[in-house]
Amino acid sequence: MGSVLVLYHSQEHGNTAAMAEAVSAGATEAGADVQIVNTNQQRLSMDMYRSADAVAFGSPDYYSYLAGGMKVFLDDWFIAKKTSTDRLIDKPYGLFYSHGGGGKVREPMERLFAKTGTQIGETIASKGAPDAETLGACRQLGAQLAQAAAS
Ligand SMILES: Cc1cc2nc3c(=O)[nH]c(=O)nc-3n(C[C@H](O)[C@H](O)[C@H](O)COP(=O)(O)O)c2cc1C
Repeated sequence: MGSVLVLYHSQEHGNTAAMAEAVSAGATEAGADVQIVNTNQQRLSMDMYRSADAVAFGSPDYYSYLAGGMKVFLDDWFIAKKTSTDRLIDKPYGLFYSHGGGGKVREPMERLFAKTGTQIGETIASKGAPDAETLGACRQLGAQLAQAAAS
């Protein structure tokens, strides 16, 4: 059994949190050991990141960019890997985001997280609250990440 970390930011309506919960459920159903962290509540330690075999990253679109908590994670990750890249690079990861109608966060999100490893599946977007189809895609992403984590 592999471990999947679901790291996301959600603060305004819970839209990104709903997507994160669906990714987490899909990964759990597929047999992964899942940890889920909202950067609005907790700054992720690099030890927790190191312990994950695969990761899902989620953010709302804030000013056509990542939410601050997710940017803090990327800053911490970049600084940590200067000392040691052990279990910090080459991880399989998936991406999801919510937005209010612009959704331009996709480009910086895909560009920045590409530094961390290999993307699994397609980036999932939701305008406002995720509908049933979007939640299904999130569960599927969780299952794909569980499979990648186990291999
Ligand atoms: C500070 C702030 C900036 C935002 N900027 C954008 C934006 O540039 N483009 C966009 O499409 N939505 C923008 N939104 C809308 C959020 O991305 C959207 O409501 C999102 O679903 C909130 O996610 P959450 O409920 O998980 O916090 C912004 C919201 C906030 C609070």
